[in-house]
Amino acid sequence: MPASLPLVLIADPIDPAAAQQLAGGSCRVVDASAGGPALEPYLGEAWALVVRSRTKVTSELLARAPQLRIIARAGVGVDNVDLAEASRRRIRVVNAPTAATQSVAELTVALMLLLVRGLYPSIAATKGGSWNRGTHGHELAGRTVGFVGYGRIARETRSRLRNFGVTVLAHDPFLASSPDGTVLLPLPELLARSEIVSLHAALTEQNRHLMNADRIGRMPRGSYLLNVARGALVDEEALLAALDSGHLGGAALDVFEVEPPTRTALLQHPRVIPTPHLGASTVEAQARAGVHVAEELLRALRQEPLLYQVNPEVSA
Ligand code: MLT
Repeated sequence: MPASLPLVLIADPIDPAAAQQLAGGSCRVVDASAGGPALEPYLGEAWALVVRSRTKVTSELLARAPQLRIIARAGVGVDNVDLAEASRRRIRVVNAPTAATQSVAELTVALMLLLVRGLYPSIAATKGGSWNRGTHGHELAGRTVGFVGYGRIARETRSRLRNFGVTVLAHDPFLASSPDGTVLLPLPELLARSEIVSLHAALTEQNRHLMNADRIGRMPRGSYLLNVARGALVDEEALLAALDSGHLGGAALDVFEVEPPTRTALLQHPRVIPTPHLGASTVEAQARAGVHVAEELLRALRQEPLLYQVNPEVSA
């Protein structure tokens, strides 16, 4: 493979089929997904960088990659990429926005059921030898679910909930009208009316700690909070206080402010169901994410229009 071909540097593990697909294009592929030290020797000549969420594409990293023309995020959220700096350096950033929609929607429904039925402590207790058949938990039917952020994943979750007999509300500052008839509300009103609040917003500087003590306090007593989006949407100290005081009935968290999480009191709280940022980690979603970014990079190599560029102001 001639050294003059553009170098595609894979920084985080992606589906092996995607790496193979890339290797069939006019590029050299280096798999440095073992982490930081493996990446460094190749950064200087990388034309493309492929990441999931582990690698933080900071301005310092970009300064060490002067040949970089495109960053491919094998997933949805691009909050681990310094977009402003990438755009300033005329680097195109692409993602795989549809790859994990079903997987995250399914996880949301699963967590919702676990939370409302109070199943998680029962599973742990039964494994520990207890056999407590006492009444506990509630039906999901009849509850009001409020989605905060009403993009692809929330809408897919909503469609999976259609047979559960729930009332659905949504808040999304980027939607002028409802795409599917779901009632859109201002956030304070949605929080006051929802017994289950499910977060699906992308993380930005504007919505960091969106769910602070005040907003959590607006949720009805005994209600539940689900976060499968980004940890920093929630003020974890405020969440912990609301769980401790009994204001919240429980929380299911797939994401944390710091990952792996360091707030053990939250992680080990009896009414918290934690999962290790697994929303997009199914075999199917990862295969799709890999294929989507590989195809996008192959399009870039052939100088064809891109499908998933998140900073369209940067041209090739
Ligand atoms: C995503 O944004 O695609 C998901 O959070 C999963 C991931 O970070 O890989």
